Amino acid sequence: MKIFPSSTGDVCVGRLHEGLPAALAQLHASSVLVVADDNTAVHCLPLLGPWIDQTKVVIIPHGETHKTLEGCQRIWSALVDIGADRASVVLNVGGGMICDLGGFAAACYQRGIRFAHIPTSLLAMADAAMGGKTGVNYEGFKNYLGRFEAPAFIWVDPVFLQTLPQREILDGMAEIVKHAIIRSQTLWDLVSITDFNENTDWTGILEENTPVKLDIAGADPLEKGIRKTLNFGHTIGHALESHYLHTPDPLSHGQAITLGMLAESRIALLMGLLGNEDFQCIIALIKRLLSPSEVTLPSLGEIKPWLQGDKKKSGGRVGFSLPDRIGSCTWDVGVDDRLVAESLIWVETQVSTVPQR
Ligand SMILES: NC(=O)c1ccc[n+]([C@@H]2O[C@H](COP(=O)([O-])OP(=O)(O)OC[C@H]3O[C@@H](n4cnc5c(N)ncnc54)[C@H](O)[C@@H]3O)[C@@H](O)[C@H]2O)c1
Repeated sequence: MKIFPSSTGDVCVGRLHEGLPAALAQLHASSVLVVADDNTAVHCLPLLGPWIDQTKVVIIPHGETHKTLEGCQRIWSALVDIGADRASVVLNVGGGMICDLGGFAAACYQRGIRFAHIPTSLLAMADAAMGGKTGVNYEGFKNYLGRFEAPAFIWVDPVFLQTLPQREILDGMAEIVKHAIIRSQTLWDLVSITDFNENTDWTGILEENTPVKLDIAGADPLEKGIRKTLNFGHTIGHALESHYLHTPDPLSHGQAITLGMLAESRIALLMGLLGNEDFQCIIALIKRLLSPSEVTLPSLGEIKPWLQGDKKKSGGRVGFSLPDRIGSCTWDVGVDDRLVAESLIWVETQVSTVPQR
């Protein structure tokens, strides 16, 4: 077991039995409400059998469309039902959706009670559960209501990945690849030689990935500067995710970010920020995360309202985070609409050439 201390919540990477019971006991909680979605309730809660009270569980339907205030209301009602007080704890067992939702619900209940995360998707283990951001979607906009609140702890055990669908594995890899591109040549070297399958040494990758996210989030907890580099791929990615959110075939967060990273790498190349050699390496790796897809990329006009509503906007201008080489990223870059439009067209040509696996 390895512990990574952080002001945004300590992360433990290790088997559950190696310390989760002690971590829970140290909270001295008056009661613990477990929050899961219907998938993690089936696949993940049984692994926590001895350590949680299976009668104090609230199950939210899975999926991004439930990361809402209605989802919070279910959690708040369950907290009231179990008589939760300010010494109670919300234990989130799920992917990024549950961690964001449960964290936000806890941060509001009785002006804020403690919460802890047991991330069960690769994306949550690698990114969403760390860094102290919580929130829900609102009026179609991603994460429009939220709070920066540090969980009491985050317990990362790759055992949960055994039941995670391969598409979700690729989604999680997208955030790990993002961390490598913006900050870590070592992580880049590691993921470049990984096949992302059942033989992957997830513990090794997560141990290399965790300090990247924690260092950036800890250095700038309120996202005034360097933390914005974590938004690489997310300006266009969130706009695509919002655009498709209420269609019959929504994009997952990871798919949206993968497409967003492709588009934003292209923009970085076109602006002369990123050299062609690094650009080619970056797109070759990112394309390994794409599934053959029927996705038709929207035009700039179609995603413009979502870009305009982007939380990363300041002073009326959307600030992009763009890589300037592998392992380094700059932020608050103003980008001409023409380049955004051109990058979307280019991404579509890339998606259409992804081979069947
Ligand atoms: N707070 C942050 O800093 C941050 C960062 C990145 C992403 N996010 C958020 O995270 C969310 C995306 O996270 P996600 O990709 O984990 O989505 P998710 O939580 O919706 O999980 C994806 C799917 O995998 C299922 N699942 C999870 N663990 C499983 C397991 N072990 N076995 C079987 N199925 C399992 C879920 O039920 C769901 O259907 C988005 O809401 C995004 O905004 C937050």
